[in-house]
Amino acid sequence: MKDKQLSVSAIKEGTVIDHIPAPALFKVVSILNLEELDTMITIGNSLGSKKLGKKGIIKLSNIFFKDNEINKIALVAPSAKLNIIREYEVVEKRVVEIPDEIHDIVKCVNPKCITNNEQVSTRFEVVSKSDVKLKCHYCEKITDQDNIEII
Ligand code: CTP
Ligand code: ZN
Repeated sequence: MKDKQLSVSAIKEGTVIDHIPAPALFKVVSILNLEELDTMITIGNSLGSKKLGKKGIIKLSNIFFKDNEINKIALVAPSAKLNIIREYEVVEKRVVEIPDEIHDIVKCVNPKCITNNEQVSTRFEVVSKSDVKLKCHYCEKITDQDNIEII
């Protein structure tokens, strides 16, 4: 292991999600349903970062995500970097990429949408990724970056 000071302890095996913008940290926790895990998780909030000013970090021991599970966090934390840790070493670094479709996790901006009035899960087509725009499968209204509300 590299000899340097870590503000949150190093982990032996698992996934470190680093460079999360501080305001998105708890949204990431919710999108990944981390409250349902009973493995060791360390969360650091408002840590100093040269790139982001303040960043959040999540360290998950013995958890390795599939791309489709982790990519959802790009909606709120496009700058997040995944580090795969084996025997204390970073063996792989990955960026997150917004998927082509989003199911369940975002609320439709249209109050009249069926998903806001009946027991129907939300479903969106991602029509723009750089400046996020989500088109509702049911009412076709666009939910954009500023209106994204995580359910
Ligand atoms: N890390 C960890 N446990 C380890 C190894 C690394 O928790 N056994 C964490 C580090 O604390 C860091 C992240 O994984 O937050 C990435 O580690 P590393 O690549 O060594 O750090 P940096 O070079 O600073 O990464 P970057 O360039 O992505 O900022
Ligand atoms: Zn809708």
